[in-house]
Amino acid sequence: MKNLSIIASVGKNRELGYQNDLIWKIKEDLCFFKKTTMGSHIIMGKNTFKSLPKELPGRKYIVLTRDSNLTTNDKIAVFRNIKSILEFLQKHNLKCYVIGGEQTYSLFLPYVDTMHLTEIDDSFEQADTFFPKFDKLEWYKKDSLPFEEKGISYNRVLYKRKNKS
Ligand SMILES: NC(=O)c1ccc[n+]([C@@H]2O[C@H](COP(=O)([O-])OP(=O)(O)OC[C@H]3O[C@@H](n4cnc5c(N)ncnc54)[C@H](OP(=O)(O)O)[C@@H]3O)[C@@H](O)[C@H]2O)c1
Repeated sequence: MKNLSIIASVGKNRELGYQNDLIWKIKEDLCFFKKTTMGSHIIMGKNTFKSLPKELPGRKYIVLTRDSNLTTNDKIAVFRNIKSILEFLQKHNLKCYVIGGEQTYSLFLPYVDTMHLTEIDDSFEQADTFFPKFDKLEWYKKDSLPFEEKGISYNRVLYKRKNKS
């Protein structure tokens, strides 16, 4: 879907999180996340919503949950299923990033043609959530830039889905 991208930071074994928190907190990467998503809508599952340490200014939230206690307000649009989110995005032609976590990335991956993945050259055995496996043959790396912060090396990779022929 046009205007819909994934943004995620993943370890060597596709690690995403542990005990509903991030594993790596890389300053430059958090700045990249902020800069990239600023002014857009961000889609997340309820666990990721609950994990946010503070409100993210300049972005509107789209939260996926079956929990009827969570309701829509000025900042948050709450949806009960992916179909209604996709219809909402199409109707309003919104620029949107899927920001996690595991369940939500898995649901949206088939609808996304662009992924901003920070691929961290580190692993974490206790991780309890993982980025979904994707077929590398269906994607190409449009960009890949190496970084290092506090001894942690990582690549910022822009994946684009290959055109189906
Ligand atoms: N490394 C990264 O870039 C990154 C980014 C984001 C998050 N994370 C990490 O990922 C972890 C959270 O991932 P997660 O997979 O546990 O949670 P999640 O995807 O954030 O949220 C899962 C919740 O979303 C709702 N949901 C999922 N599928 C649904 C469906 N089909 N219909 C309606 N609601 C649905 C359910 O909420 P209800 O139970 O309320 O129904 C479900 O419990 C955390 O550790 C977080 O720190 C990492």
